Amino acid sequence: IRVAVVFGGRSTEHAISCVSAGGILAALDPAEFDVLPVGIARDGRWVLPADTAPLAIVDRRLPEVTADSGPALVLPGDPAHGPLRLEPADRPGVVAPARGFAALGGVDVVFPVLHGAYGEDGTVQGLLELAGLPYVGSGVLASAAAMDKEFTKRLAQQAGIPVGPYAVLRPGTATLDGPTRQRLGLPVFVKPCRAGSSHGISRVADWADLDAAVAHARAVDPKVIVEAGIAGREVECGVLEGESGGVPEASPLAEVRVVAGHDFYDFEAKYLDDSCEYDVPARLGAAVTARVQELARTAFTALDCAGLARVDFFVTDAGEVLLNEVNTMPGFTPTSMFPRMWAAAGLEYPKLVARLVHTALA
Ligand code: DAL
Ligand code: MG
Repeated sequence: IRVAVVFGGRSTEHAISCVSAGGILAALDPAEFDVLPVGIARDGRWVLPADTAPLAIVDRRLPEVTADSGPALVLPGDPAHGPLRLEPADRPGVVAPARGFAALGGVDVVFPVLHGAYGEDGTVQGLLELAGLPYVGSGVLASAAAMDKEFTKRLAQQAGIPVGPYAVLRPGTATLDGPTRQRLGLPVFVKPCRAGSSHGISRVADWADLDAAVAHARAVDPKVIVEAGIAGREVECGVLEGESGGVPEASPLAEVRVVAGHDFYDFEAKYLDDSCEYDVPARLGAAVTARVQELARTAFTALDCAGLARVDFFVTDAGEVLLNEVNTMPGFTPTSMFPRMWAAAGLEYPKLVARLVHTALA
């Protein structure tokens, strides 16, 4: 099976995508998979990296794909190719798949190991749909909806999944009015609506700090979401598309505890230092565990996810389960929660990766 593993990309999560891809490339069994690593530089240029050995965080240094990482991959629509043509020359007006995308080397399936904007948000998925190439993970709609924390909550609520109080600051709206501040209370978390790996997030414990937090989030996304801080525990659940069209499967849960030096589970705590403890499986009672797993599967279905997702929750001190967010291409570094939760279920990292590729081809 010929697999293109696409990583890097234009989002703030470029480096984490590289680390995720490093893990996946190492886990694809060469006896079964013929792998084509494809990097996307921060400026959007696609390249065939000559060397994928350094795709890890070493001494806090983050890996990166650049235009110099290897030969350029010419895409349809690239000026070097002329404009993207969607019409067969003999039948103008008839839309055809962009077969020029065979520049990808005639692969059978694409594994877009991309986090964040222009990768996890439906854009690359749309390109692959146009090209008629099967790919791992969710399609255009689910990717776009899960990337956007507002629409994730709207769809989840509509499916009966509880979410915490929140407010959206659309572009052009500078700040929250008094009644909204009253409704949310303090602290709040101010987040770019469409981002990941905690980029652009601040915890605000004093309304005087709100404007700076909004500006910080807006540097990542003009649309900002302000969420009420939830007193409770942070719990995650991995979901896999069911085999042979069956119901989605939920993994054992993980709990994340920030133990030192950070206000919350921020980028540093996630990837750069040892300030977090993880329990896999989480130490939660059977009833709460079952409730989280059921809501994770419900969220997966409600958003029309495919392949995989990691669904993150808060469990309040009163035992209530609230959805935090859905990640359609969760972190896949060797220490990431998604592969660790499935390993706890007996599905080791290489088997998990192989299953995802097979699901995409089914
Ligand atoms: N957005 C990061 C990669 C995650 O969800 O794990
Ligand atoms: Mg996320």
